[in-house]
Amino acid sequence: MDELLEIEVKEGILQIIQSEKKYKMLFESNPMPMWMISLENFQIIDVNIAALKHYEYTREEFMALDAKKIRPEEEEARFLQEMRLHIQGVSNRGHWLHRKKNQELIHVEISVYDFESEGKRVRLVLSDDITAKIQTEEKLKRSYDEIRELASHLQDVREEERAWIAREIHDELGQQLTGLKMDFSWISKKLDQEDEFTRERIANSLTLLDSTIMTVRRIASELRPGILDDLGLVPAIEWQAEEFQKRFSIQTRFVTDVSRTSFPAGISIGLFRICQESLTNIARHAHASKIEIALDQEAENLLLSIDDNGKGFQIEKPGDRKTLGILGMKERALMMGGEFKIESRQGRGTSVLVTVPYNIIGI
Ligand SMILES: Nc1ncnc2c1ncn2[C@@H]1O[C@H](COP(=O)(O)OP(=O)(O)OP(=O)(O)O)[C@@H](O)[C@H]1O
Ligand SMILES: [Mg+2]
Repeated sequence: MDELLEIEVKEGILQIIQSEKKYKMLFESNPMPMWMISLENFQIIDVNIAALKHYEYTREEFMALDAKKIRPEEEEARFLQEMRLHIQGVSNRGHWLHRKKNQELIHVEISVYDFESEGKRVRLVLSDDITAKIQTEEKLKRSYDEIRELASHLQDVREEERAWIAREIHDELGQQLTGLKMDFSWISKKLDQEDEFTRERIANSLTLLDSTIMTVRRIASELRPGILDDLGLVPAIEWQAEEFQKRFSIQTRFVTDVSRTSFPAGISIGLFRICQESLTNIARHAHASKIEIALDQEAENLLLSIDDNGKGFQIEKPGDRKTLGILGMKERALMMGGEFKIESRQGRGTSVLVTVPYNIIGI
């Protein structure tokens, strides 16, 4: 070999050694736990300091580990399948459970990189501990479930209270007012023809009593329409549509192909209240001239829709603003085991759609 060539070869070897050193350092002192597995026999062939610290093994112990031993038994089959899957470049291999030396299980997100070293196939494994993140997510989900349960309970309590107050107002107050009215009528008949002033006062009181009785009835049925409990959902929505049309002079049509008269109480109250809140929203915000309410039996679902031809609005993302009406409707639908959708376009009206599967209703 001539001298120049010899120098070039030496420099080349030096560069390889230096770059190997560089990569070794990058591996060794990387804060992310990582190790290398032989793809021939799944033996661990190298491990970095961060992995030793994290899994609490000595280097000798880690190197002696069978790659299967680092995970719970139930994930072994999935692991062997993963080992056979080769993807070019760095690939994310998802969420796994690993076991530390002290037997503590941790959640990790695994990325791998397959390459050849000295003619052998090797896998570099990067392990990102996401246990804290998973625990926070679980905690958040648990507290959300608890809040939902509490909201559902409060909703039930509220409905019971409303029903009770409606009954009290209707039966007690209503009866007492009717009694008063009868007494006043009796007095008015007994009064002297000449006492015109008193007769007029009594006549005024009778008119006032009549309108008070009507108000009491209206308040009671707004709190809890007796028709819902006595005749069921379809007549109740029909009544609601008629009342709404009378009160707000907005053409309100109700169409249905449902012949069933009774639904579980939670379903009829839920759908009735969603309809009520939608109509309130239309009266308050929509400037609509036409409303169509439909209750339909589909193949697998009961479907309630409330469409208006009003001004529509831009549906905001969750958390944008604290409005409770739409949120309440959504929660009610979820509590019934159903789904809630609202669609709206500016100038094109709004549609509220609730779907409840029959298996929830028990049909
Ligand atoms: N049918 C509709 N037509 C036009 N805008 C609507 C309609 N329904 C809802 N909106 C818009 O969506 C917003 C949110 O409705 P949501 O019922 O959640 O709250 P709200 O009616 O303002 O107050 P509340 O919490 O008392 O119900 C309304 O303020 C209104 O701007
Ligand atoms: Mg509202």
